[in-house]
Amino acid sequence: MLNSLLIVSLSLLCWKTAADNPYQGCDCGFVNENGLFTNYWISDFANYSNDIHRDKEFYVANYTIEAKYPGTFPRSFDPNNVNVINNALQLAVTIGDDPQCGAIGTKRQDIFYGSFRAYIKTTNVPGTVSAFFLYGNDSEIDMETLSALNPPETYFAIHPGLTDAQSGRASALTHTNYMLNYTPSEEYHEYRFDWIPGLAIFYIDGKEANRLYTNIPTVPGRILVNHWTDGNANFSQGPPKQNAFMDVQNITLFFNVSSNDSSANNMACQTSHQACSIDVTTAESMPTPSPSVSQSGAVSLQSSIALLSLPATLIAAILCHYFI
Ligand SMILES: *[C@@H]1O[C@H](CO)[C@@H](O)[C@H](O)[C@H]1NC(C)=O
Ligand SMILES: *[C@@H]1O[C@H](CO)[C@@H](O)[C@H](O)[C@H]1NC(C)=O
Ligand SMILES: *[C@@H]1O[C@H](CO)[C@@H](O)[C@H](O)[C@H]1NC(C)=O
Ligand SMILES: *[C@@H]1O[C@H](CO)[C@@H](O)[C@H](O)[C@H]1NC(C)=O
Ligand SMILES: *[C@@H]1O[C@H](CO)[C@@H](O)[C@H](O)[C@H]1NC(C)=O
Ligand SMILES: *[C@@H]1O[C@H](CO)[C@@H](O)[C@H](O)[C@H]1NC(C)=O
Ligand SMILES: *[C@@H]1O[C@H](CO)[C@@H](O)[C@H](O)[C@H]1NC(C)=O
Repeated sequence: MLNSLLIVSLSLLCWKTAADNPYQGCDCGFVNENGLFTNYWISDFANYSNDIHRDKEFYVANYTIEAKYPGTFPRSFDPNNVNVINNALQLAVTIGDDPQCGAIGTKRQDIFYGSFRAYIKTTNVPGTVSAFFLYGNDSEIDMETLSALNPPETYFAIHPGLTDAQSGRASALTHTNYMLNYTPSEEYHEYRFDWIPGLAIFYIDGKEANRLYTNIPTVPGRILVNHWTDGNANFSQGPPKQNAFMDVQNITLFFNVSSNDSSANNMACQTSHQACSIDVTTAESMPTPSPSVSQSGAVSLQSSIALLSLPATLIAAILCHYFI
C-alpha cells in the first residue's frame, strides 16, 4: 500500500522522462563531472535516413547576416549548402559571385545549460570558419576552427567578448587561441563544451582544454553547427579559392531546458534509479533496467505528504533520490 502510493506520487511528480533516445533506461538524467542534465539528444549522421531539410528537430539556415565590419561581406546561408552525404552532414562554403555558407541548428531554443559534443572534420581549404556553438539572445559560447590558420588552432569564445585595452585584441577573458596537435581536416575529432552557470569548459577529444568565466550566457538558446566565410582579413580570411566542405559525423547533447513549468527538468527515475554517466557511451554499459521500485520504499507516508508542499522539482529530486 505504502509502496503503491509512493509509486503513484513518483509517476505523477516525476512525469517527464529523459528525451527520446536509444538509452531508454536512463530516465534519471545524465551526469558528468560538471553536473546533472535531464535531457539527452543524439544525431548520428553515419546512419541518417531522413531528409535534413524536413527534419523535425533541426532547422537548416536560410538567411543572410549583414557584413559585420567594413571590408567584409555578408554571410549568406543557403539550404543547398547543407546535405547528408557519405554518412556525414556536409556543410559547404561555395564560391561564385557571392560565397554561400551552410548552417544547421536545433529548432528548440530552450536549451539551458548542458554538455554538448560534435565530431567534426574541417576543410583544408583556407578561408573558412567551422563552428559549433550555443546561441541565445546574442549571447554565445563558440568553438571555431579557422582553416586559414597554420599551425592549426581552435578558438574558444564567449560573446559578447571583451577587447584587451592595450593590445586592441580579443581579451583572454573571453577568447582562447587553442593550438591543436593534429590537422583538423584529416579526421574527425570531438569538440565539446559544457555550459553551467557562470562557466564554460572546452574540451578537445575528451581532454579539458580551457575554462572561461566571463560573460557566460544566462539565457536559454539553441545549438548550431555552421561553416562560413566573410572575407575578414583578421578572422576567417577568404573567401576560399574553391568550394570547401566541413563534415559532421554526429552531435550529442545533454541538457536542461528553460520553462516556466517547474516540472520541466523532472525525471521519472523509475528504470535506472540513478543518473547515467555521460562519459559511458555505449548502451551496453548503461544500468540494467530494474523491474520495480518497490525495493527501496524508505520514504514514510508522512514525509511524502509533507513533500507535497515543496516545489515540484524539489519533490521530484527528493523522491528520485530516495529511489536510487
Ligand atoms: C538540471 O536540472 C536538474 C533537475 O532540476 C538539476 O538537478 C541540475 O542541477 C540542473 N543542472 C544544472 C547544470 O543546472
Ligand atoms: C545503422 O542502423 C542499423 C539499424 O539500426 C544498424 O544495423 C547499423 O549497424 C547502423 N550503422 C551504423 C554505421 O551505425
Ligand atoms: C529560402 O528563403 C527564400 C526567401 O527568403 C525562399 O524563397 C526559399 O524558398 C527558401 N528556401 C527554402 C529551401 O526554404
Ligand atoms: C536579450 O538581450 C537584451 C539586450 O541585452 C535584453 O534587454 C533582454 O532582456 C534579453 N532577453 C532575455 C529573454 O533575456
Ligand atoms: C584588421 O585589423 C587591422 C589592424 O588592427 C585594422 O586596421 C582593420 O580594420 C581590421 N580589418 C577588419 C576587416 O576588421
Ligand atoms: C561519433 O563519431 C565518432 C567518429 O566516427 C565516433 O568515434 C563516436 O563513437 C560517435 N559517437 C556517437 C555517439 O555516435
Ligand atoms: C515565462 O513567462 C514569461 C512571463 O509570463 C514569458 O514572458 C516567457 O516567455 C515565459 N517563458 C517560457 C520559456 O515559456
